[in-house]
Amino acid sequence: MTEHVKIEHKDHILTLTFARPDKKNAITDAMYGALADAIIAAETSPAIRVIVLRGEGDMFTAGNDVGEFAMMAAGGFNRERHVSRFVDAIARSTKPLVAAVQGRAVGIGTTMLLHCDFVVLAEDALLSTPFVNLALVPEAASTLLMPMRVGYARAYEMFALGESMNAATALQLGVASRVVPLEKLHAEAASVATRLAKLPAGSLAATKQLMRNAEALTAQIGAESRIFAERLTTVEAREAFAAFAEKRPPDFTKVAG
Ligand code: COA
Repeated sequence: MTEHVKIEHKDHILTLTFARPDKKNAITDAMYGALADAIIAAETSPAIRVIVLRGEGDMFTAGNDVGEFAMMAAGGFNRERHVSRFVDAIARSTKPLVAAVQGRAVGIGTTMLLHCDFVVLAEDALLSTPFVNLALVPEAASTLLMPMRVGYARAYEMFALGESMNAATALQLGVASRVVPLEKLHAEAASVATRLAKLPAGSLAATKQLMRNAEALTAQIGAESRIFAERLTTVEAREAFAAFAEKRPPDFTKVAG
């Protein structure tokens, strides 16, 4: 277990908080493990009717811990990590998933929102998926869900150029359900979660299953994961991870794919 994920269960609502604010809530393998365990256990617990995802501090999450990417690239980490269990759990969850997002949501911070059923953004929210900037490929079925949600052109811009999407655009394009002032973010998410918790759980689960094709999502996740794992060990990716550690821009022009 890890102290970097807070797990609270109250009034039929399970709240999962990324709690590593000094590292901008970058998600480690141990954190994915705790998140996956909680979401998988919730699936069969009638006491949990809604799951809320949120982050401590000034941003939702800076995405996967880049240091751990570098460790994997160096062969020091087993690729069958908890991240796969986490992604699979959010893709298959039949419980309503609510997200409360302030500041940046980077990488998986944004792609996990595509699996959430109700996304509340603070006005300062900024969504980005800079996988190509790290010489990787997008994951969590986002190569399917993002173009479906925002159109190919905008999705490509986000994936390839690492362009961010602000809260107003996310609302307009249907990535977000609601945008509120920062000070109202958690109250708004709690209010939606409370409303959802009172609805007939069976009907909500069936509605979600009809709206989302979990099999298609997990097939896409499998295809992405294979390419992601290959890309992690490329020279391009090593350059990206070294650049992050050395706090300098990467130079991909000197390395081949
Ligand atoms: N993995 C590991 N550590 C991370 C991290 C990540 N994804 N994101 C931030 N951190 C760490 C920084 O290294 C820094 O650590 P230090 O204080 O020991 O030097 C600390 O968190 C604070 O980050 P900092 O960059 O100073 O904050 P910022 O507000 O200036 O910038 C971001 C925030 C999110 C824009 C920037 O940290 C960033 O670009 N992070 C990488 C995001 C990323 O590429 N994620 C993976 C996507 S696939």
